[in-house]
Amino acid sequence: MLWRDEAGQVAAFNVAHRSGLEGWMGPLAVRPDRQGTGVGKAIVRAAVDWLIEQGVTTLGLETMPRTVENIGFYAQVGFVPGHLTVTMTNDIATRGHRAPLLLSARQGHARAQALDAVRGLVGALAGGCDFTREIMLTAELGLGDTSLVEDPGGLAAMVLWHSAPLAEGRPKDEVRILKLAARDERAFDAAIVAVEAAAARAGIRRVGVRCQTRYTGAFRRLITRGYRVRWTDLRMTQDGYPEQPPAQGVLFSNWEI
Ligand SMILES: CC(C)(COP(=O)(O)OP(=O)(O)OC[C@H]1O[C@@H](n2cnc3c(N)ncnc32)[C@H](O)[C@@H]1OP(=O)(O)O)[C@@H](O)C(=O)NCCC(=O)NCCS
Repeated sequence: MLWRDEAGQVAAFNVAHRSGLEGWMGPLAVRPDRQGTGVGKAIVRAAVDWLIEQGVTTLGLETMPRTVENIGFYAQVGFVPGHLTVTMTNDIATRGHRAPLLLSARQGHARAQALDAVRGLVGALAGGCDFTREIMLTAELGLGDTSLVEDPGGLAAMVLWHSAPLAEGRPKDEVRILKLAARDERAFDAAIVAVEAAAARAGIRRVGVRCQTRYTGAFRRLITRGYRVRWTDLRMTQDGYPEQPPAQGVLFSNWEI
C-alpha cells in the first residue's frame, strides 16, 4: 500500500501479507516530514482492515524490542506484545552431510504428492495454515527450496528456505529458514539437520533461523547445536487476532524475510 503527497511523491508505505488464515504487515514507514501527524495510524489501520477483509484469524507484525516509541505506537492501534523472535545462525561444515531430500528433485505426481503431504502436516499442526503459495513462488522465482524429512509415518517435517541474497550483487552466503513445520521435537532436530545438509550441498556455510521464543525446547536445541543469537524482534498481534500455536510440534512462520 502506497500513500502519496500532494506532489505525487511517496509519503508512506505498508506491505500487507496474507498466508492462509495468517496475516501480517511490514516493512512500513512514514516519511520523516510527515511523521507525528496521524499518517502512521492510518497506514496501519488500512492494512488491518484489508487483512481482516481477507478473512485472517491471526494478524500481527514484528518490531524491534528496543524501539519503545514503535511499541507504544502499535499499542495505540490495537496491538499487544507477544513473544520474541530470536534470529540465530550457525556456521556449518560443508562436508559429511547426508544427501538432502528436496522438493525440487520431485516431478509430476511425486511433486504433487509431496505438496499434499506438506499441506497435511502444516494443516494438522495449525488448522488453516497453508504455505503452498510461498513454496510455489520460491520454486518459480528460484529463491530457494523446500527440504523434506520423511519417516515410516510419512512426512515428519518440512522447511521452506531461501538462499537468494537479500541485496542484489551480494554473494549467496546464507540459507534462511522462512517456514518450518515439525511433528515433534525429534522431527525438529531432523529438520535442522536437513537444512544444513541442503546448505552444504549448495556450498553455503551459514544457516539462519528465526526462532519464536514460545518454543523453548526448539530454542534450547538450537543453542545446544551451536547456533548463535544475532538479533531479536518483538512479535505483536492485533487484539482479537492472536497467534494459534499448535498443541504439539514446532511451527515457525516468518513475518519478515
Ligand atoms: C513508526 C511510524 C510508522 C509511526 O508513524 P507516525 O505517522 O509518526 O505515527 P502517528 O502520528 O500516526 O501516531 C503516533 C502515535 O504513537 C503514539 N506514541 C508514540 N510514542 C509512544 C509511546 N512511547 N507510548 C505510547 N504511544 C506512543 C503517539 O502518541 C501517537 O498517538 P496519538 O496520536 O494518539 O498521540 C513512523 O515513526 C516511522 O515511519 N518510523 C520509522 C520507520 C519505522 O520505525 N517503521 C516501523 C518498523 S516496525
